[in-house]
Amino acid sequence: MSAKSNKGGAQAPLLGSKIRLNIEKLAIGGAGVARHEGMVVFVPQAAPNEEVLAEVTLVKKNFVEAKLVEVLKPSPFRREPPCLVANVCGGCNWQHITEDEQRRQKEKLVLETIQKFNRGVEFEYLPIQESPRVLRYRNRIQPKFKHNRFGFFARNSHDIVEINDCPITESALTDKFGEVKEWLKEKNSKDLQRLEMYISEEGPVRYGLINEDDDGIGFSQVNRFQNEDLVHTALSWAGEEKYEQVFDLYAGSGNFTFPFAQKYPEAQITGVELNPKLVERAKSRIQGQRVKYFLSDVETYMRRASIGKQDLVLLDPPRAGASELIMRTLAAAQPKKIIYISCHPVSLARDLNWFFAWSQKLGTRMKLTRVQAFEMFPQTDHVETIAELRVDS
Ligand SMILES: C[S@@+](CC[C@H](N)C(=O)[O-])C[C@H]1O[C@@H](n2cnc3c(N)ncnc32)[C@H](O)[C@@H]1O
Repeated sequence: MSAKSNKGGAQAPLLGSKIRLNIEKLAIGGAGVARHEGMVVFVPQAAPNEEVLAEVTLVKKNFVEAKLVEVLKPSPFRREPPCLVANVCGGCNWQHITEDEQRRQKEKLVLETIQKFNRGVEFEYLPIQESPRVLRYRNRIQPKFKHNRFGFFARNSHDIVEINDCPITESALTDKFGEVKEWLKEKNSKDLQRLEMYISEEGPVRYGLINEDDDGIGFSQVNRFQNEDLVHTALSWAGEEKYEQVFDLYAGSGNFTFPFAQKYPEAQITGVELNPKLVERAKSRIQGQRVKYFLSDVETYMRRASIGKQDLVLLDPPRAGASELIMRTLAAAQPKKIIYISCHPVSLARDLNWFFAWSQKLGTRMKLTRVQAFEMFPQTDHVETIAELRVDS
């Protein structure tokens, strides 16, 4: 086996070889990023500004993956994780990094990703919004149980890491772990049991078994403390203008729909959501004729949607983002304002790129006015972002 070089002349290290690396920053997905003879190397569990010894586990044309073997010179941002099983559990990947640095990395990642996909697009970039809680913030979890072991899947594996606590989860849930384990033991099943535990909207903790392809209660914002800030920011960015219609695309059970209906009492409000459980929950909250909820795929809905120039569109898709057709339809409609809430910077950046490409082709004029990252998932590499587009006047 010999070292390979790619088109740019970078030399790939050999599979299984151990290399010294300086970690420059963190990447989407959570790994540390370093360069080795011109080649980008991703090292999970590394921290920014540290020197590590890593073993090469995967060699691709344009990048390499390596496993952390030893921290040679620790990062100033490395710390003892608050969770006892952080090094093995598949749940959190940034517990070994201080919270200030986690936020700094996320702020940088969101900006770099948007700029990479949208060269020359200028916008105001606001400082990342901190989460009111960095621990004990999760109100919904999906633990596993097998052979009397209760916990979460280990990193890159279906082995169960046993837990008695989970420091990122609200204590109303962790206090129930003992009761849940007893309940599971009584079932006497040899099969893997997947379950969901959550704090219900009414207050009490609920739990139950779910299937492999079941998403349990369906989507709900897992950090209710930070969700308040997010909804508040979306409302404030929507502003004091008058809108004829407000569209809430990917509306869930109405997290944004109902606060917007309250703020804009003269507007017609439309929620679009694919999950029947969530649509049913939202419909049970509707009073009067002004709020309409559709059980539909957003793309299908967009083919018949009549979005006008006096309207507001909220968009809060899952990690995969929206689609070219959706962004094209929005670019053509040119509503007064679009507020895009994203849980994945890459799909947000790609969707914005589609939007601007279509705006240019169609000769419409909307610009990206402001963007802010939100720390919604402390101790992990996940980040929420809110972006505002409005007509360029
Ligand atoms: C990130 S969540 C946002 C939900 C809601 N805005 C909230 O804050 O609770 C994305 C939502 O999109 C829904 N969804 C996923 N794919 C969809 C599609 N193709 N069309 C409509 N809704 C979809 C999911 O069920 C989920 O409720």
